[in-house]
Amino acid sequence: MAPDLVIHSAGQLLTIASPEGPRRGPVMGDLDLITNGAVAIEGDRIVLVGDTAEVLAQAGKRARLIDASGKVVLPGFVDPHTHVVFAGDRAAEFEMRLQGASYMEIMAAGGGIMNTVRATRQASPEEIVSRSRGRLDRMLAHGTTTAEAKTGYGLDTETELKLLEAIRSLDASHPLDLVPTFLGAHAVPAEYRGRAEEYTDLVVEKMLPALQAAGYLSRGSPVFCDVFCEEGALSLDQSRRILERAKALGMGLKIHADEFSSLGGTALAVELGAASADHLACTTDEEIRLLADSPTVGVLLPGTPFGLAEDHYAPARKMIDAGVAVALATDLNPGTCYCESMPLIMALACRQMKMTPAEAIVASTINAAHAISLGDEVGSLEAGKKADLLILDAPDYRHLAYRFGTNLVQTVIKAGRVVK
Ligand code: NIG
Ligand code: FE
Repeated sequence: MAPDLVIHSAGQLLTIASPEGPRRGPVMGDLDLITNGAVAIEGDRIVLVGDTAEVLAQAGKRARLIDASGKVVLPGFVDPHTHVVFAGDRAAEFEMRLQGASYMEIMAAGGGIMNTVRATRQASPEEIVSRSRGRLDRMLAHGTTTAEAKTGYGLDTETELKLLEAIRSLDASHPLDLVPTFLGAHAVPAEYRGRAEEYTDLVVEKMLPALQAAGYLSRGSPVFCDVFCEEGALSLDQSRRILERAKALGMGLKIHADEFSSLGGTALAVELGAASADHLACTTDEEIRLLADSPTVGVLLPGTPFGLAEDHYAPARKMIDAGVAVALATDLNPGTCYCESMPLIMALACRQMKMTPAEAIVASTINAAHAISLGDEVGSLEAGKKADLLILDAPDYRHLAYRFGTNLVQTVIKAGRVVK
């Protein structure tokens, strides 16, 4: 072992070591905290985690040292649900909603997702990439070192491919790692209005094969397929057709389920072995039990009802107590939740969904990593994992959720490199 970087003397080192998979039930509140802890890094990997004296004794002379006395050291955040790649914005719709219009009413009137689809179809690839890069910079500054990124503002084959290409190029050129998700079934586009079944045919018969033909499904890294299963978007049967085809192509699966109404999307996710079911604001008790007995992670998005100024938060307490592996994500998107900060999401999760600060951290690290099938690679501080970690300018991990509106993330280390 010849580490080139050692972070030492951390007041609190949160390892969140979880070799058994995502954390559930009472262990969701356990951070495996080491007082006066240290992490040694070689290249892009963690090589040793433990007590400072022990780690420094083994580290050798070559290593650069970072003193984290009085500070908290923890894994970089994983944001497992974002729509970060888009053009334009919807500030005007935000104001309309404050004056009484609902999200689904605006969508039914041709705004909402379609509004961003029009802007994204018109934008050049360079413009989309440069706008999205700014968002990734702010996510990284707030501690996100890995994120999922969805398409879904193209809704035609050409633009959906343009968005996948934008995600690929951002992943290659930005320190933050991106995991792509194809969300061609984000809405039924205006030109298919009243013909959702025909649009489903297009997704199944044209778009998914086009992804395969363009080589996106054979790069060795995961690519997910997601569907917005909701009244006014895709029905349960249409969601099933799309996800079954994606599964047959070897893609990982995700679903936007039970955001505004309960259509059975969560049970479908469990049945098909999806990596995650997301939103879950109105999931039935029976589906919560199904989720708890499955490997599918429940991704909760408290920024979304907050962004919509509504109060339909997911029943996180009930889910954790039932044994669901709960993760948190921003849902970063121009419509419901233009939020780049995982710490703000944790602050909301604790207040609006009664999660504890420790549960919120587990949900934003190891459980979030499992929601994008990267639980063996990121999300905890364990030897062999990617060296993605944060130093907080705070003496206690609870400050992350306790304080809000300021950024406590002082240092970000991504793949062994100090990037902030
Ligand atoms: O997760 N609900 C569907 N998709 C997003 C919103 C996307 C948008 O409004 O642009 C969500 O909330
Ligand atoms: Fe979403």
